[in-house]
Amino acid sequence: MRILVFSNHSYDRDSFEAARGDRTDLLFDYTAARLEARTAGLTAGFDAVCCFVDDDIDAPVLETLAAQGTRLVLLRCTGYNNVDLEAAERLGVAVMRVGRYSPYSVAEFAAGLILTLNRKLHRAYNRVREGNFRLGGLLGFDLHGKTAGIVGTGRIGVALAHILNGFGCELLAYDPYPSAECEALGVRYVPLPELLAASHIVSLHLPLTPQTRHLIDAEALAGMRPGAMLINTSRGALVDASAVIEALKNGHLGAVGLDVYEEEGDMYFTDHSDRIIDDDVFARLLTFPNVVITGHQAFFTREAMETIARTTLRNIDDFADGRDNENRLHPARTAN
Ligand code: NAI
Repeated sequence: MRILVFSNHSYDRDSFEAARGDRTDLLFDYTAARLEARTAGLTAGFDAVCCFVDDDIDAPVLETLAAQGTRLVLLRCTGYNNVDLEAAERLGVAVMRVGRYSPYSVAEFAAGLILTLNRKLHRAYNRVREGNFRLGGLLGFDLHGKTAGIVGTGRIGVALAHILNGFGCELLAYDPYPSAECEALGVRYVPLPELLAASHIVSLHLPLTPQTRHLIDAEALAGMRPGAMLINTSRGALVDASAVIEALKNGHLGAVGLDVYEEEGDMYFTDHSDRIIDDDVFARLLTFPNVVITGHQAFFTREAMETIARTTLRNIDDFADGRDNENRLHPARTAN
């Protein structure tokens, strides 16, 4: 089978080549290009494409794939908000994802953002390097006894609940499908407005769907506890970034940690250091001392990369052998 890997970086190639070993039935080609309408023609002659979070697998792209004989889209990620599943089904293109890989990678990263913002590690790092050992402005709070609200308690949300439980936080959660594991930990499920009003820290761990887009908008932000911290390691569009800027400017929001950004597509995973950032919302977010932004790296651990590559190979084999598996996405079954 010939597979074209889009949005490739050296670490993607390394993990796929290591997982492939000496198999000669799988031929991977790699391109740094993002899959989008403009680049869909590159797929001619490939049986499958392998894509990541910012590839745009919409109906026109899928039509090109189908017309050129590409029958399989392999997502090397969990989220599938960038795929038109209805169009894929209609065109007979199978879509498979990596539904399960180290949830600890993202949960631990979210905890890292919480600790960084609370204890101002990002500022302390720079100060000490410049010989400034003053503590003014670096005051944090004990996490012990504070209320943390987890929105979405699937695999990652549950892993974060365990970590925050270890810190001694009171845990609230909102999820239409409560987790028995969370409830056993003492997590209390409450309606979203109650969670937002009570939590010192709110962390988002739910998928992006048409229903959850801008879940955290101006109204939700206004309903948050004054001075609260917002963490988003899920998908950028869960949060209205312009509304976040207003809430930061008027001091209502205490701190924000973002590993994802709604318009990250053209920017993330590439080096823009010698260019001007022309996204004014993003640029404004960067100016706040109480905002930490990272470039969609929460998943990026050795363990996660190995599992992603191994699972992608299993998806290829199951597809080739005509076997369905839990990673195959169907529009009807994935309405969350
Ligand atoms: P999961 O599918 O195990 O859990 C998602 C949970 O969200 C489920 O329990 C579901 O019931 C809940 N949910 C759905 N709609 C909701 C709503 N409207 N309100 C509250 N809860 C809702 O997914 P997992 O593995 O925990 O991942 C969560 C998200 O994290 C993914 O959808 C993906 O967008 C993001 N992610 C980000 C990564 C990064 O590197 N920054 C890496 C991996 C995932």
